[in-house]
Amino acid sequence: KEYKILVLPGDGIGPEITKATLEVLKAIEKKYDVKFDIKEGLIGGAAIDETGDPLPEETLKLAKESDAVLLAAVGGEKWDNLPTDKRPEKGLLRIRKELDLFANIRPGKAYTALLDASPLKENLIKGVDLLVIRELTGGIYFGEPRGIEERNGEKVGYNTMIYSEHEIERIAKLAFEIARTRRKKVTSVDKANVLEVSAVWREVVNKVWANYQDVELEHMYVDNTAMQLVRRPKDFDVIVTGNLFGDIISDEAGALTGSLGMLPSASIGERYALYEPVHGSAPDIAGKNIANPTAMILSAAMMLDITFKMHDAAKDIQDAVEKALNDGYRTADIWQPGTKKVNTDEMAQAIIEK
Ligand code: NAI
Ligand code: MG
Repeated sequence: KEYKILVLPGDGIGPEITKATLEVLKAIEKKYDVKFDIKEGLIGGAAIDETGDPLPEETLKLAKESDAVLLAAVGGEKWDNLPTDKRPEKGLLRIRKELDLFANIRPGKAYTALLDASPLKENLIKGVDLLVIRELTGGIYFGEPRGIEERNGEKVGYNTMIYSEHEIERIAKLAFEIARTRRKKVTSVDKANVLEVSAVWREVVNKVWANYQDVELEHMYVDNTAMQLVRRPKDFDVIVTGNLFGDIISDEAGALTGSLGMLPSASIGERYALYEPVHGSAPDIAGKNIANPTAMILSAAMMLDITFKMHDAAKDIQDAVEKALNDGYRTADIWQPGTKKVNTDEMAQAIIEK
C-alpha cells in the first residue's frame, strides 16, 4: 500500500523537526509493508521568501493531490512587520480554509514520566486523557464584517462571531462519533448566557445529540470551563467548541499536561486532513538541533491512525514515545535533573529504537 504525504517544513525549527519525523516514518515503512510517497512544499515565511505568497498555488495543488498533509510550523520575526494578510500565519489559515478542515483535534494526555512538568498537583493530573475538538473554519476568525475604520473621530477594530447550523452540526457529529470510541462524554463549550451565536450553537448541539443518546452531553460556559480544566481535568473526555474558545481552551488543556513540545494535533475535513504540532516555529531555539520533535512525531502518528487507518503503527509510535520518556530521554524543554538530555535527532532515534 502506498500513501501520498505532502510535508510542509515551514519556518524556524520546522525543518529540524520535519527531518526527525521523516526518520520515524521511514522506520514505520520498514516495519509495515507500506510506502510513503513524500513530497515537500513551501508554506509560511519560507514560501514568502521564495514566491511572495505564504501559500503558493503549487503547495495547495500538491496538498489536494495528497492523502494527508504533515506540517511543522510557520512564522518568525523576519515577517512580523508584514500586514496581517501577507504574513506566514495567513498561509496556515488559508490552507485550513482551502482544504475545508473544519475540525481541529488536540489530545491532552498526561505522561507518567512527565507528571512533574505539569503545573498541577500529581493527583489532579495523573490519568488525564482528554480531547479538544475546535471548530476551525468559522467563527470570529473568519466572520464578516471585519475591519479597522474611523468612527466618530477615532479608530475602531471589529470582528464578527458567526456560526451557521450546518457548521455546528458537522462538528457536533464528529465530537459524538469520537466520544463513542472513548469514554462517551461530550462537553460543549459556549457563552450562551451572553452571545446569540452561542444560543444557536447550544440548540444545534442538542439536536445532534438526539442521535447519540448513548453519549453523555454537558454544556459549559467557556469561563467556567477555563476554571474546571485546572480544578478537575480528569472529568473531561471530549470537549467541543468554536474557533476562538477552542484556541484558548486547547492551549490551556495542552499546558495541563506539560510541554508544548509534546502536543500533536489533527485538522480534519470531509476530504482532506492536515497534521501538525500545536507549537509554533520556536525561533528562539531554531537552527540548534535542540527542539523537541515529539509533537510532530505524534502528529504523524495521528495521521497514520486517522487517515491511513494504520492503528497498530500509530500505537507503536505512541508507545515508543512513552517508553523513550520512561527511559529518561529528554530534549531540553522537558529535561529534569536525573534524565538524559538529548538533541532533536537523538530523541527521534530513541523513539525509533523503542
Ligand atoms: P512557539 O510555540 O513557537 O514557542 C513558544 C515557546 O515554546 C518558545 O520558548 C519555544 O522555544 C518553545 N517551544 C515551542 N515548540 C518547541 C519544541 N518543539 N521544542 C522545544 N521548545 C519548543 O510560540 P511563539 O514563540 O509564540 O511563536 C513563535 C512563532 O511561531 C511566531 O511567528 C508565531 O506566529 C508562530 N506560531 C506558529 C504556529 C503554527 O505554525 N501553527 C502556532 C503558534 C505560533
Ligand atoms: Mg493558539
